Amino acid sequence: MFTRSDFGEDFVWGVAQASYQTEGGFDTEGKILSVWDVFSHKKGKIERNENADIATDFYHKFPEDLELAKQMNFDAFRFSLSWPRILDNNGKPNQKGIDFYNRVIDKSLELGIEPWITLYHWDHPQYIEDKGGWTNRDMVKWFSDFADIASKKFGDRVKNWMVLNEPFSFTFNGYFTGEMAPGKKGLKNFLKAIHHSNLCQAEGGRIIRSNVENSNIGTTQFMAHVEPFSEKDKVASAKIDALINRIFLEPSLGMGYPTDILPVIKKIEKYMQQDDIQKMKFDFDFIGLQYYFRLIVKRNFLMPYVGAKEVKPEQRKVQDINEMGAEVYPIGLYKLLKRLDNYQIKKIHITENGVCYKDVLNNGRVDDQRRIEFFKSHLEQILKAKKEGVNVDGYFVWSLTDNFEWDKGFRPRFGLVYVDYPTLKRYIKNSGLWFKEFLA
Ligand code: FCB
Repeated sequence: MFTRSDFGEDFVWGVAQASYQTEGGFDTEGKILSVWDVFSHKKGKIERNENADIATDFYHKFPEDLELAKQMNFDAFRFSLSWPRILDNNGKPNQKGIDFYNRVIDKSLELGIEPWITLYHWDHPQYIEDKGGWTNRDMVKWFSDFADIASKKFGDRVKNWMVLNEPFSFTFNGYFTGEMAPGKKGLKNFLKAIHHSNLCQAEGGRIIRSNVENSNIGTTQFMAHVEPFSEKDKVASAKIDALINRIFLEPSLGMGYPTDILPVIKKIEKYMQQDDIQKMKFDFDFIGLQYYFRLIVKRNFLMPYVGAKEVKPEQRKVQDINEMGAEVYPIGLYKLLKRLDNYQIKKIHITENGVCYKDVLNNGRVDDQRRIEFFKSHLEQILKAKKEGVNVDGYFVWSLTDNFEWDKGFRPRFGLVYVDYPTLKRYIKNSGLWFKEFLA
């Protein structure tokens, strides 16, 4: 086994969460509606028709949650800002919403926990969606205003910033399959959303850098470890890999889009203007890698655009499958770290990693030994990569507490802290106690 010190003095240990998934207070103190409020209030969109109107009530319970993070010996807290809490329908600052984040930031600092802010974790204002949201190039302007105000308001105390949370996830699920907010579909919407996200990703970085002294700026990428089912499936696998792992990372590095492998992406050129390749580039201080699972891919000529299809873990008789049906595969994290190391990236942080298994609350305890094994096996892979020279210097557990897992509602539990939703009481799971000891 390894110890905390094997990771080095400078390694950051944190917990992560997001505004819509935890805060609640969806119409409290001047907050306007987000796309997620509107989407979750529609019938049939979320399992059991749940919504995050109250969520874990982080809006009121944040002191308790931050104290729990402290008890477990974490030194960093990653959270996102709810854009519709910070700006009103006219794009003017909502002081009460800003004050909420001031309280969260001040409480973190008081406890000796470093705040790490994600500017955007999927909950933009509905009125902006009504004008097209991510499919409208004006998003660059709207997003820039938000980034400017947020970084000016909080940048005196918060130095660590992430511009976007997983642009692949919100563009694919929100603008291609329609399974998540705002529920739009189709290739056209998807391609526009991809391109405008790439522009905002870099522009947000530039704005924070100019507003915040001594800033440490990153953006986060969802990455899956993708492998072909057989030799014949290599091309199909490369296409899925490009779609998931390259269309937001490579433009940020100034490499443009991976059109060679994924010809359908060429269609994005219709939405590009002169100098966009340059505009999508930003010299990030770090890239946030978010890792959950492996995908095995088979060619399938019936599938439009990619000619590929996933071979599901249950078809492959995989042993370790999480509550969302994905394959737990620690080596994939090592492989992605090694791969990221081949790009010109200054530093990598794992800004999300975690797992949902069935948890049972029993006399105030949750014996989640499987989750402990998950963390041990993934940390081992990070250490291996680090020893081989990969510049990875931070690990954020998803998530501090159980919370609202998007279209899956409250069913999947990712927390180190169990939330009993009827009472909103918190209980540290055994995995949380494991971290407490490991980090002590
Ligand atoms: C990631 C999201 C995060 C959470 C975890 C389980 O893709 O960024 O909000 O839903 O998955």
